[in-house]
Amino acid sequence: PNLILLGPPGAGKGTQARMLTDGHGLVQLSTGDLLREAVARGTSAGKAADEVMKAGGLVSDDIVIAIVNDRLDQPDAAAGVIFDGFPRTVAQAEALDGLLADKGLSLDAVVSLEVQDDAMIERISGRYTCAGCGEGYHDTYKTPAKAGACDQCGGTEMKRRADDNAETVAERLKAYHAQTAPLIAYYDFKRVLRRVDAMDDIGAIGTQLNAIVAKAS
Ligand code: AP5
Ligand code: ZN
Repeated sequence: PNLILLGPPGAGKGTQARMLTDGHGLVQLSTGDLLREAVARGTSAGKAADEVMKAGGLVSDDIVIAIVNDRLDQPDAAAGVIFDGFPRTVAQAEALDGLLADKGLSLDAVVSLEVQDDAMIERISGRYTCAGCGEGYHDTYKTPAKAGACDQCGGTEMKRRADDNAETVAERLKAYHAQTAPLIAYYDFKRVLRRVDAMDDIGAIGTQLNAIVAKAS
């Protein structure tokens, strides 16, 4: 199945997408991760995206849609895709409808992860990831079993994202409310929207998402 995880910065899209990838053999398609890779590689898309991401704004629809199109054309995407952080504007949602139709793919569910703004700021400011494998952690909510060592790969180098500072987070939240929140109504109208209380704990949300994926398979 193909599904979208919709939600503001810090809602847990990446955390849940990774868990679904492990459990169901689906592919995580995070436009944020793909853009950060493009920035690191210094591609033309990456050069255009860099400043916008540092400021907490949205990268242009054209760049993001091209990146998604390329990723969907890779063979492993046939197993089913979890869209994490895409679409983020109505124009992106319309483009995705077109891409899926062209490729003969379905959209099986859109999950809206619903949280409160103050909780998101706390989640983002406590977040870090393993530099070796990308597993995500949190100072309070998700600590490795052995302090300082990754549960997945044992790596000890951890990193924090450049856009996870208070000023940029405020801009990211503004962009979410202005440009992305309208997608909730867009997908509700299409009758594919499922609302999940993302203030719940990570495991409980995962259980709900597993049920949604199982039903969509
Ligand atoms: P992106 O990388 O997509 O960032 P984001 O949407 O801001 O989302 P985050 O990664 O911050 O949060 P998340 O929901 O994945 O939360 P996580 O699971 O890590 O985008 C970055 C930038 O790229 C954008 O600002 C934009 O510039 C650009 N961009 C990307 N896509 C674009 C697009 N389509 N169009 C245009 N521009 C685009 O969880 C956060 C923390 O909380 C973690 O530490 C986690 O352990 C913890 N946590 C998770 N769930 C829970 C829980 N239930 N309870 C307690 N703690 C929890
Ligand atoms: Zn690791």
